[in-house]
Amino acid sequence: MEPAVRAEDEAMSTEELLQAQTDLYHHSLAYIKSMALGAATELGVADAIHGRGGAITLSHLAAATGVHPTKVQHFGRLMRALTVTGVFTSEEKEGGGGALYKLTRISRLLVGVGKRRLSPMVRMLVSEVSFTTPMSICEWITTDTPARAMFEAHFGSTQNGLWEKEDAYGAPFYSAMSADSRVVMEVLLRECSSVFEAVAGSLVDVGGGSGGVVAAAIATAFPHIKCSVLDLPNVVAAADDTSNVQFVSGDMFDYIPPADAVLLKWILHDWEDQDCVKILRKCREAITTRGAGGKVIIIDFVVGAGSSKETETQVLFDLYMMMENGAERDEHEWSKIFFEAGFSDYKIMPVLGARSLIQVFP
Ligand SMILES: C[S@@+](CC[C@H](N)C(=O)[O-])C[C@H]1O[C@@H](n2cnc3c(N)ncnc32)[C@H](O)[C@@H]1O
Repeated sequence: MEPAVRAEDEAMSTEELLQAQTDLYHHSLAYIKSMALGAATELGVADAIHGRGGAITLSHLAAATGVHPTKVQHFGRLMRALTVTGVFTSEEKEGGGGALYKLTRISRLLVGVGKRRLSPMVRMLVSEVSFTTPMSICEWITTDTPARAMFEAHFGSTQNGLWEKEDAYGAPFYSAMSADSRVVMEVLLRECSSVFEAVAGSLVDVGGGSGGVVAAAIATAFPHIKCSVLDLPNVVAAADDTSNVQFVSGDMFDYIPPADAVLLKWILHDWEDQDCVKILRKCREAITTRGAGGKVIIIDFVVGAGSSKETETQVLFDLYMMMENGAERDEHEWSKIFFEAGFSDYKIMPVLGARSLIQVFP
């Protein structure tokens, strides 16, 4: 039997009904935005615009990015979608003759020179590895199959296993992490220098990755802080040789080298609550200066901190992390973990866009 028409359906004006339909289609097609952005990143569209002084016609852009001559019109449709959605902008050439494509604040972050280049991060987020399990949320949520098992069935490895062992996945992953860290550090050093000035003399970046970008930036900006990076042996073996950072290979679940401050950037969101408590207990044991600047510094999302767009980014990342048994947490969830790990206080600073800097005190 057809369900009865409900009162709220009847009450919708034409305008509301059509708006709701447009919104529904907009949400349904959100993945096309990701695909289009991924294609533009792969083609190097931002670099081509930048290389032509910041403004370029469609035909020149197509030639510069390797578009096949039979596909220029299709490429124009890709550029139109990316322009309407704000990734690029276009304006009519003076005196006519078509549109000139230009960069926006978003696509400037895709240009392949300079420390703000986030194209490795975009590549990772729109890669096959990232898309596969989120696409299967419905299947996963209606069975008792662990997310990791679904991922393994497809790739023959866990996601962490792929990053760590397969160079074809691992190298782009660590390059994406380094790219993100460069942007985060630019802001942190500008906005939160007092957090590091208070550190007595040493800091260990746990899971700092092969680039050691965060530790190197802190060591350069604050010469009084001796910085080291702890990461897995295979990551340390491939580490960039930076003179001001010492790399230590090990497992954060076993031992964290002693330091005045322990930094965890994008580590805890990879793990379930009980694993986070174990990692934080090891951090607490490692902190040498209690009450005199000793602390854990966490860079991660705090769900609900910030604008509605930032919250949307946080909860989308949460679904992304859910597929690897990780999670993005709200303040209440964070505080439970901190207190269970034996810490006495914390301070959240939502100063990193969608992410926050959290100081946790022993
Ligand atoms: C998501 S990445 C974050 C990298 C870096 N902190 C950043 O944000 O740019 C997670 C890091 O944790 C490291 N890692 C994973 N398990 C670890 C363990 N048991 N002990 C030490 N490091 C580990 C990985 O090798 C990787 O570098």
